[in-house]
Amino acid sequence: MSTDILHRHLLKFLLLSAFSFFVGTVHGTLQVVPPIRAWLDSIGSPYGGPGHMIDPLAHAHMNLIGGVVLLVMSTTFFLLPIFTGKKIYSIKLVDHTFWWVSVGVYSFYIIQMVFGIWEGLLLHSSPQDIPAAHRFYGPAIAISSFTMLVGFSAYLANVLLTVTASSNNKSGPQ
Ligand code: HEM
Ligand code: HEM
Repeated sequence: MSTDILHRHLLKFLLLSAFSFFVGTVHGTLQVVPPIRAWLDSIGSPYGGPGHMIDPLAHAHMNLIGGVVLLVMSTTFFLLPIFTGKKIYSIKLVDHTFWWVSVGVYSFYIIQMVFGIWEGLLLHSSPQDIPAAHRFYGPAIAISSFTMLVGFSAYLANVLLTVTASSNNKSGPQ
């Protein structure tokens, strides 16, 4: 694996990180616009109730995982060969990391937004219907969380396998 090939695989991390910061900061700005702020406050944001899912959960994870974590992961994969003198153990795991974390964090964001808005609207119209809606939240958020966890695990495995590889890893899985 040449350095150029690794860099080509890392480019998508930077692109999605930049896009996620855009989504996260548009979200952050919208949630301080007075009428939206008033509605979020009325549904419990930031401390509890449906509002908690929109502000801060959806906002924080889009910025921190979509923006910061993807950037940190690509930076780690860029720096590891420089610090260790070894090739990244597996470029396939680099791609797995990207897709599992990205699908995980975007589904996490969409689930928080859908349930936050749905249950927020119900809170003002028919609060007795909230438990019926909320029963889908647990399974949905568990699946998206597990998806992210697979990506974080692939990341840790690749970092450890690269650091502990005995040689320059020319014949290792790529
Ligand atoms: C235009 C940019 C942004 C705006 C206008 C904005 C606005 C906000 C607002 C209004 C809150 C909720 C405060 C509350 O209700 O208690 C918040 C929370 C938060 N924001 Fe942002 N934000 C922006 C960008 C970012 C970025 C770039 C990051 C991370 C890299 C970030 C991370 C967070 C986190 C982690 C919280 C939750 C804090 C807590 O746990 O209480 N925000 N933001
Ligand atoms: C698999 C990965 C992750 C999952 C499933 C996850 C899930 C959650 C959940 C469910 C909460 C809400 C807890 C509650 O309100 O009771 C939370 C809070 C939070 N998480 Fe994560 N998280 C993950 C990774 C991360 C990472 C990597 C960061 C930072 C880089 C982060 C930053 C935060 C912050 C700042 C809060 C507090 C937000 C607030 O309520 O003010 N999370 N997370």
